[in-house]
Amino acid sequence: MLSVKGVSKGYGGQLVLDNISLDIQEGEFLAIMGANGAGKSTLLKILALLLRPSTGRLLYKGMEVTRDRESYYRKSLGFLGHNSFLYEELTAWDNLMFYGQLYGVNDIERRIEEWLDHIRLIGFARDPVKVFSRGMQQRLALCRVLLLQPDVLLLDEPYTGLDGNGQVLLDSILKNFRKTVVMVSHDLGKSKELADRIVFIEEGRLNGLDGRIL
Ligand SMILES: Nc1ncnc2c1ncn2[C@@H]1O[C@H](COP(=O)(O)OP(=O)(O)O)[C@@H](O)[C@H]1O
Ligand SMILES: [Mg+2]
Repeated sequence: MLSVKGVSKGYGGQLVLDNISLDIQEGEFLAIMGANGAGKSTLLKILALLLRPSTGRLLYKGMEVTRDRESYYRKSLGFLGHNSFLYEELTAWDNLMFYGQLYGVNDIERRIEEWLDHIRLIGFARDPVKVFSRGMQQRLALCRVLLLQPDVLLLDEPYTGLDGNGQVLLDSILKNFRKTVVMVSHDLGKSKELADRIVFIEEGRLNGLDGRIL
């Protein structure tokens, strides 16, 4: 279980997250919804250890989450945000090889090939990322995250930029993904279709609804 305990975050004088507490079960698919500027991405970045909360803490499997590079939680994480973290000058293949080696992925060449094939980018494996369209970059960014086999997958509006086929592919990947997922979305239909539970951020606070009864 991943627990958010009393997390608040302010920028300057403005409080964006106000004492958020949330338990996310292992294997649960949680959708976070809310208006533009509500604080969804801020909460997700805190879960991804990219932002430090002003107050509050995270627990993972009952242990305090630490921010050091070797922390167990950090190694379990996969984060897909608005920044693709891809190197524009490198090819699709070399980007995946770089991240795969960095994270010690086993049987790396076979996995890269499988993911590029699955996400329909295999024909572009040797092309530099700078010639990719936004949607192609989003597909590759998704590959980068999934290649590392995260136990906790954090997605910030992952459908952005994907064409129809890309959306269908992502639907099937997420429906078959058995690990924990936290997805920020403003699409209620998608959230209802995929999530076990939906929470809404309004004025810095969380309001929960059970996705199955919506
Ligand atoms: N780095 C930052 N500095 C100052 N304000 C920020 C920063 N990042 C986000 N904000 C503000 O925090 C609020 C929440 O932003 P964000 O979490 O990105 O919202 P959402 O993802 O729900 O659209 C917004 O009012 C935004 O302007
Ligand atoms: Mg956002």
